[in-house]
Parts: sequence; structure tokens; C-alpha cells
Amino acid sequence: MAREYVLAGAAEGLLMKASGIAEGKGVTFDIGRRPIAATRVAGELIVLENVCKHEGCETEWSAKEQGWECPCHGSLYAADGTVVRGPSEADLDRLDYHLDGDEIVLDQGR
Ligand code: FES
Repeated sequence: MAREYVLAGAAEGLLMKASGIAEGKGVTFDIGRRPIAATRVAGELIVLENVCKHEGCETEWSAKEQGWECPCHGSLYAADGTVVRGPSEADLDRLDYHLDGDEIVLDQGR
């Protein structure tokens, strides 16, 4: 389902559509081999590297918790990636991006 947002990779940055990412819902997908988690918080598009800071599992969106929950050992992150519950002790990494029309282009280096 979330993969529909992924467009073909570009030579620099990689693209996905922003319009399908709604407040209160999270989507996960890969760009190349990079796992991404994205949602909106107060209208702001949040793009996270979807790698749990405990042992590296990919988190999943929890509609109940309105955040990112790790299926491996139960860590919970707020929608913006802030750690809420351990065992993880660190936030998910926010990724820098810019918009090109409706397309989100990840900035290089993050
Ligand atoms: S890898 Fe996510 S809680 Fe352990």
C-alpha cells in the first residue's frame, strides 16, 4: 500500500509523493534500500529513517498510539520520531528533504 508513494529513483535524492501522507496516519516504505517512515504533525511532513535505535528493526505505525512502534522489543516513538518508551533511548533520525511540487526529495547526506 505505502509503496504506491514511491516513484522511480532519481540520480540525486529519491522521490515520493507527499499528498498521500495524511495527519494521523503513518506510512512506511523503502527508497532504494533505505527504510522510511513518514507522517504529518500539525501539518508538517515528518520524514524519518525507519531504523529503531535499539537494535535496528523497522518500526510500524500504530493508529492506537499515534506513533511508531517497534515490533521487536516494543519501543515506541512519537509521530515526530521522539522516543516515548524504551528499550530504545534515542529518537528516530529525521531526514532532511525538500519539496519539488508534490514530490519529496531527500537531501543527500541525511
Ligand atoms: S529493535 Fe526496536 S525495540 Fe529493540
